[in-house]
Amino acid sequence: MLSVVYPWIKALHVISVIAWMAGLLYLPRLFVNHVESAPPGSELSDVFKGMERRLLKRIMNPAMIASWVFGVLLFATPGIASIHAGWMVVKLVMVLGLTGYHMWLARCVREFASDSNHLSSRRFRVMNEVPAVLMVVIVIMVIVRPF
Ligand code: HEM
Repeated sequence: MLSVVYPWIKALHVISVIAWMAGLLYLPRLFVNHVESAPPGSELSDVFKGMERRLLKRIMNPAMIASWVFGVLLFATPGIASIHAGWMVVKLVMVLGLTGYHMWLARCVREFASDSNHLSSRRFRVMNEVPAVLMVVIVIMVIVRPF
């Protein structure tokens, strides 16, 4: 059965990871602007809090869950991928890294919401590079399969 719907599952997997990546790359930018232009308690800070919460809850969380569900379904499709393949192991480690990064962003959203963020905009700029690097490694692993 999985083999029959395989192309659809793979399409839905790629759609989900694109939405997830968009959020992982955009949310830290909101944090940079939040720190630099909206002091705690200001009206603009409330606007940023709403944008951050909606991006996380309505786009990033569902997209992350969908990426995992369709990814695991692909993994379970006979003949598609094996845990003994080096590329799949490296990919899964990088994806766990992306998932951990997502959890860190979720904690930052909560800290901004309670006006208890202590991180600088410079820190968010630096951390913004992490998902981009992980994504490059993931896509090379799954498409090129170097080992
Ligand atoms: C969340 C956990 C994930 C799992 C379990 C997973 C697993 C898989 C598996 C088993 C395949 C099928 C490979 C094939 O068709 O031969 C696949 C395809 C793919 N994955 Fe993932 N993946 C995950 C997350 C991601 C992420 C985060 C990205 C990108 C940032 C990504 C990008 C891709 C791409 C581009 C393909 C299509 C490759 C092709 O056309 O051959 N995946 N994934």
